[in-house]
Amino acid sequence: MKRIFHISDIHFGLEDTRALAWVKQCIEVDKPDAIAVTGDLTMRARRREFRAACAWISALGPPVTVEVGNHDLPYFNLPERFIDPYRRFRAIEALIEREIDLPGLAIVPLKTTARAQWRWPWSNGWVTRPALAATLAALDALPAGMQALVTAHHPLTERDPRGKRLTIGGERAMAELAARGVLAVLTGHVHDAFDIEQPTPAGNLRMIGAGTLSKRIRSSPCSFNDLTIGADGIKLCVRNLGDVPTPAMQIEQVPENALPPRLPEDPVAPVGTVPDFDPPVH
Ligand SMILES: [Fe+2]
Ligand SMILES: [Fe+2]
Repeated sequence: MKRIFHISDIHFGLEDTRALAWVKQCIEVDKPDAIAVTGDLTMRARRREFRAACAWISALGPPVTVEVGNHDLPYFNLPERFIDPYRRFRAIEALIEREIDLPGLAIVPLKTTARAQWRWPWSNGWVTRPALAATLAALDALPAGMQALVTAHHPLTERDPRGKRLTIGGERAMAELAARGVLAVLTGHVHDAFDIEQPTPAGNLRMIGAGTLSKRIRSSPCSFNDLTIGADGIKLCVRNLGDVPTPAMQIEQVPENALPPRLPEDPVAPVGTVPDFDPPVH
């Protein structure tokens, strides 16, 4: 039996300090075997935000893996964004990430971010062919019988119910991961939790999303996923600051971004009726 805390979208710069203190305490009490952080460590990839992320994550006891999120690429410095977009993240990753050595279970990363795209917004997901190839090579190199979780920032859902393109290359990636018997894909980005069985041509793939630990809440309180992995698969509890039961915390469809949903009877919500979010950078 292994226990993994899946946390995401801390967004240092707009972090929720009460949520972070609570998660740290949960980790101290429950002592999970590992922590998987699925991106958006920062709000605008500022150096001070990365330093704060580094300090908080370094103080956690268990080994940690971190993925890069769209907010972790330079936002203000466009030359750096184009020339070396992952430099700041890599520097932090080198300080905080420790190899997770769990018997019979591997955590394999998949990059879904892009420095730029032929569409707007650039914040949406894109599984490039080289990124998918790197993940598949890592999965194929695992010893026989080793189970795997894949960690990424963007949910791999390629289109929403209206046909709008979400993550480019998501369907191809999901089919390849399902063909390899991946236990689940852990992601963030949309700031609400979900647990969806996604059909693919190679069989079903479990897609698990974590909420946020920032003030950028979408439709649910701050939360993280508490995963227990045993012989019968993954048991998932969405632990949250509102004492909301897990099923009520989980959304049923992956939205495009982390913006709060509009009520159907209120298509143009007046200012002040929803949390004060930044412009739509997600
Ligand atoms: Fe985010
Ligand atoms: Fe994101």
